[in-house]
Amino acid sequence: MKILSAEFVKSSTSVSQCPTPDKPEFAFIGRSNVGKSSLINMLTGKKGLAKTSGTPGKTRLINHFIINNQWYLVDLPGYGYARISKKARDEWEKMIKDYLRIRKSLMCIFLLVDVRHAPQASDLEMMDWIAEQAKPFLIVFTKADKLTKRVLAENLQAYSGFLKKEWEIPPQTIVSSSNTGLGKDEVSDLISRQLQKLENFSAEFGLF
Ligand code: GTP
Ligand code: MG
Repeated sequence: MKILSAEFVKSSTSVSQCPTPDKPEFAFIGRSNVGKSSLINMLTGKKGLAKTSGTPGKTRLINHFIINNQWYLVDLPGYGYARISKKARDEWEKMIKDYLRIRKSLMCIFLLVDVRHAPQASDLEMMDWIAEQAKPFLIVFTKADKLTKRVLAENLQAYSGFLKKEWEIPPQTIVSSSNTGLGKDEVSDLISRQLQKLENFSAEFGLF
């Protein structure tokens, strides 16, 4: 699938303020600084589309971007950011979870994980919570360019071994780098397939 156009639509402080849910959407979640906004820029080929920063806690609202005038990519605040008050952290987490739980047009959640680190408690909790909500999700490993080939392979093997132990059917994984474009085709193809399925389904049952 080619992304022909990508435009910022709006930032929302709650799910009720989000655009009318009349188009399929795909959301990026993960710990602060994992590379959610950068991945959106890499996928769309527009560097400044989503605001990025070397300091965690850059994205603070629910941001909708319309792609090809047909579907949305959604950039969310990160979780697990230690340097804000517990109250602010709880509010962010509630915003994210309300969005994930309530948003009817959400097709798939991309949960981003920094490939340099061992499994983090906050990510595992989020995966469990998403699974409890029966929402489809997959893992996108980020920042692959920061590791040597050997260490990357070791980390991926360790993480997938861990997932196999935790899950009867482990979630799908994609390896990415916003710097090199690694993973771009895989994420785009996955979205394409989902949109195609939805189109077939809509033709039959009249969704969207
Ligand atoms: P919050 O909005 O604060 O939750 O962060 P985020 O997950 O949106 O991360 P963001 O995209 O702002 O990136 C955080 C930092 O990581 C920035 O300095 C990016 O340049 C850097 N970064 C993101 N992705 C990659 C990547 O694939 N490789 C490298 N080397 N750096 C990356
Ligand atoms: Mg961000």
